[in-house]
Amino acid sequence: MELIDGKKVAEEMRADIARQVAKCIDEDGTAPHLAAILVGDDPPSQTYVRNKEKACQEVGFISSVYKYPSSFAESELLKVVDFINKDNDIHGLIVQLPLPGHIHAEKIIRAIDPAKDVDGFHPVNVGNMVQGLPSYLPATPFGILRLLEYYSIETDGKHCVVLGRSNIVGTPVSILLSRKSYPGNCTVTLCHSKTRDLASICRQADILIAAIGQPHFVKADMVREGAVVIDVGIHRIPDASKTSGYQLTGDVDFPEVSKKAGYITPVPGGVGPMTIVALLSNTLKAFKKEIYP
Ligand code: GUN
Repeated sequence: MELIDGKKVAEEMRADIARQVAKCIDEDGTAPHLAAILVGDDPPSQTYVRNKEKACQEVGFISSVYKYPSSFAESELLKVVDFINKDNDIHGLIVQLPLPGHIHAEKIIRAIDPAKDVDGFHPVNVGNMVQGLPSYLPATPFGILRLLEYYSIETDGKHCVVLGRSNIVGTPVSILLSRKSYPGNCTVTLCHSKTRDLASICRQADILIAAIGQPHFVKADMVREGAVVIDVGIHRIPDASKTSGYQLTGDVDFPEVSKKAGYITPVPGGVGPMTIVALLSNTLKAFKKEIYP
């Protein structure tokens, strides 16, 4: 079994982005600028936004965070998005999800200029991705693809089973891995809550991607000997022996499954660290006008 070290791959990619930013600053005195909008006081969202800001600073990006109370009106939020869309000094914009219940997330996402939508959530970017045209790829699928590539994992003709059909992970990764490319050319089965004989489908997987949102869902008897197992889940399990009071775990029963897998991503340190790098990479592309010249 080989451990897929997302932390190491992410560090190498961050260093490469930092080198490119230093070159941009040297050559024309400007750096990529990522703006984040945070509405409300959801603790995980606050942590994610703080981590994104920190990552921006580490690679030399400019970052700004627009914070609003949970009572902030949808119409006001649309004005902020419009204001940032028109600011030529801001290259990327993310609106941290989830938004408070009275705000329609899809309406806000549609209001973002697709050229600044570095989360890759706007229907224009999703549509371009589906058609294999240049687009910003959503962070987690981007991270999974880069990990498969880094470890030179063969994907041509392989059976890839994806657990979970969310818009931000399961659906896009299933599309990307079925496309004619590397990583790609897989035969993909997308499983969800209505799938029958889930365990037997999982056992047929050469590549198993777990993005189902349930701790330890994937057990060893669901995994074929030598399979590549990618764990997208991240859960806090109470653990009194830890100073933090919790332990992080994924959708996969790692101690058991790692005995059978050919490759496996740990949690933490697998897919997670790659997602912030994806955002940085997309923001650099936005700055360089690579996707929308
Ligand atoms: N909430 C959970 N994941 C994400 C993400 O990738 N982007 C944004 N904007 N919000 C999130």
